[in-house]
Amino acid sequence: MNARPPAIHPVSAAADSFKAAMRQLAGGVSIVTSGQGEERNGITVTSVSSLSVEPPSLIVCINRSCSVLPVLRDHGAFGVNILAAGHRELADRFAGRHGVRGAERYDVGDWIELVTGAPLLVDAMAAIDCTVDSIMDWNSHALVIGRVEAVRLGDGPQALAYWRGDYRDIGES
Ligand SMILES: Cc1cc2nc3c(=O)[nH]c(=O)nc-3n(C[C@H](O)[C@H](O)[C@H](O)COP(=O)(O)O)c2cc1C
Repeated sequence: MNARPPAIHPVSAAADSFKAAMRQLAGGVSIVTSGQGEERNGITVTSVSSLSVEPPSLIVCINRSCSVLPVLRDHGAFGVNILAAGHRELADRFAGRHGVRGAERYDVGDWIELVTGAPLLVDAMAAIDCTVDSIMDWNSHALVIGRVEAVRLGDGPQALAYWRGDYRDIGES
């Protein structure tokens, strides 16, 4: 086999090569939601990760300039809505790509509440209702740890992932 050796980049080129490396990491797409009524805000993320089962906890990394963060701090609760393949438009909307901000982002989709009052997407693959356990500021980002208070499971056949700068459907077709 004459496979080319993998390219190795020096640490001095770290930012660009790091971004290039992370484009190779396929991530599930979720919408993090918070607030009620006209204060609602939300953001599309790939940075959700399970943290522990005992207690049920997750972590999400949010840029400190994002408008959802003050809402999340005030309300002390948020939802993680794991998106299905049909949710590309919604993902763009909550990523600010349609120029829509704040509560207006919720004009599309059906939203309910479970325990904390955070908005949860009815047809998500799963919706996870959390209280804020802690928020750690780390340079440009805030590391938000959520305690899971309730879960609503969906049954969509395909999930939405993001890989190499674009959305991908994964699962049964
Ligand atoms: C697929 C995808 C994944 C994203 N993941 C994150 C993320 O994990 N953390 C983050 O801070 N922003 C992430 N963003 C960017 C935010 O969605 C975007 O900056 C959003 O507009 C911020 O909301 P704001 O305009 O109300 O501040 C992602 C965007 C896309 C399209």
